[in-house]
Amino acid sequence: MNKAEVLKEIIEQRRSIFPKDYSDTEISQEILDEILHSATLAPNHKRTKPWRFTIFRGEEKAKLALEMQSIYKSTQSETLFLEKKYNDIGFKINKADTVVSIVVNFSGMVPEWEEIAAVSMAVQNMYLTCTANNIGCYWSSPKIVDHLKESLTIEENQKCLGFLYVGNMD
Ligand SMILES: Cc1cc2nc3c(=O)[nH]c(=O)nc-3n(C[C@H](O)[C@H](O)[C@H](O)COP(=O)(O)O)c2cc1C
Repeated sequence: MNKAEVLKEIIEQRRSIFPKDYSDTEISQEILDEILHSATLAPNHKRTKPWRFTIFRGEEKAKLALEMQSIYKSTQSETLFLEKKYNDIGFKINKADTVVSIVVNFSGMVPEWEEIAAVSMAVQNMYLTCTANNIGCYWSSPKIVDHLKESLTIEENQKCLGFLYVGNMD
């Protein structure tokens, strides 16, 4: 296959794959680095490189799951709280091999939408690199990320746009 055919196949094959379908096989550091490196190659106006990614694995990921569950609990009224949703938040984070927080940094040098667009292109690069390596991933954008405090420091000029869940599929 030539380059155009390979690219077409990867773009066509890319899908959002959810944590329930991830296996327990660990993703190698080499492939994880490759996924993150691909993100940094995204186009960005005035070279602001507006993406800020934090990698959660192991213990940090377990803490993130607990914090997300606790935020869900404290932001829902008793009538709206769903035990299933609460458990699902923990299940998804724990089932993923790696969770990457997706944060945009607004530099003030270009319109905010351009920074969000650049971050989105970076996430697409990660999606495509995952596909090429037979790794599952999906972008999750729950509103409750706005309340993260312990696991993630978000500056005044930044906004968390959600998480990229990543896991092996074998
Ligand atoms: C900015 C953005 C936010 C998303 N947020 C969520 C989400 O919160 N929950 C979810 O299930 N999927 C989310 N998705 C994934 C989409 O639902 C998914 O891309 C769509 O179902 C199409 O499937 P595909 O990626 O396999 O083509 C998001 C995708 C994008 C681009």
